[in-house]
Amino acid sequence: MTAVHGPPGTGAPRKVLLDCDPGHDDAFAITLAAGSPAIELVAITTVAGNQTVDKTTRNACVMCTLLGLADTPVVAGCEGPLIRALRTAPEFHGPSGLDGPRPVEPRVVPTPGHAVDRIVDTVLASPGEITLVATGPLTNVAMALRKAPAIAGAVREVVIMGGSYSRGNVTPAAEFNIYVDPEAARVVFEAPWRLTMMGLDLTHQATFTDVEERRLEQIGTTLSRFLIDLMRYFKNAYRSAAGMEDPPVHDPCAVAYVIDPTLFEVAGAHVEVETNGLWASGMTVTDFKAAGPGPGRVDVGTELDRPGFWDLVISAVERIGEVPVSTSPTGGVEP
Ligand code: BDR
Ligand code: CA
Repeated sequence: MTAVHGPPGTGAPRKVLLDCDPGHDDAFAITLAAGSPAIELVAITTVAGNQTVDKTTRNACVMCTLLGLADTPVVAGCEGPLIRALRTAPEFHGPSGLDGPRPVEPRVVPTPGHAVDRIVDTVLASPGEITLVATGPLTNVAMALRKAPAIAGAVREVVIMGGSYSRGNVTPAAEFNIYVDPEAARVVFEAPWRLTMMGLDLTHQATFTDVEERRLEQIGTTLSRFLIDLMRYFKNAYRSAAGMEDPPVHDPCAVAYVIDPTLFEVAGAHVEVETNGLWASGMTVTDFKAAGPGPGRVDVGTELDRPGFWDLVISAVERIGEVPVSTSPTGGVEP
């Protein structure tokens, strides 16, 4: 494999549109994007995945409330995959999609409109400037490509959390985000744009251990306590549903790559998404020996500088600091 290192983020903040399905690890992705000076978070769009889209949208609004993101639009998107029935992941994220912490009443409300239009309009309005980060099933992104193929030439780059080159987590072959909507993933992987895939081989290196919990504890803000409670739930879920000691925090890896690509090794590959398989539906079939320059070429994350990654996330939480909240009469917290 050829290791490819890009330069660390310098200059003006990168404009990022984050398409997500919060989700415990999506919550960390939003936090990292919100708390990094290297990123200007221009919009959050939501999709059905870890939970139904009404819940993932509400959860995005909860995160914006905790992060003090009053002006970042949250726009709801597709209610289900292009063709298949929706599969959610309550075994990892609970019935709400964000189980664990005491409930937070969102003070941020969704912005009217549809995520697909928001993606198209945002990308076309700023040619060459928008980085699209997707951390859920790729339904919205595929629909945006179908609605306006010109976004492929107008986007700066696309970074996804999804797929794997060695193993799946829903089936032996398929990772959740790709498994849920393989047809959408295929559209995204075949589009003529610069695509980076942070799959399980990479994200399983981003484990949340007691060390990170202690670092968050030391910050001592409402946000850090919320994130700890999320991770305690996620840890138990991963232990019982996946037999893993410490949970991998997948989604912020895609955001971290935009902030500082030097924390990652990536290798070029040709990737095809299996959409017909009886046993391997949703598999990202990855051939590192066949990376060409054209469609199907993907930069695939292989190695993570784990300490550097957690330093980025922890600094983002520190930078956000205390966002004023008060205890609600029902026992939750509200700003
Ligand atoms: C992916 O699936 C979801 O459950 C997580 O949020 C992450 O995006 C990991 O397979
Ligand atoms: Ca996700």
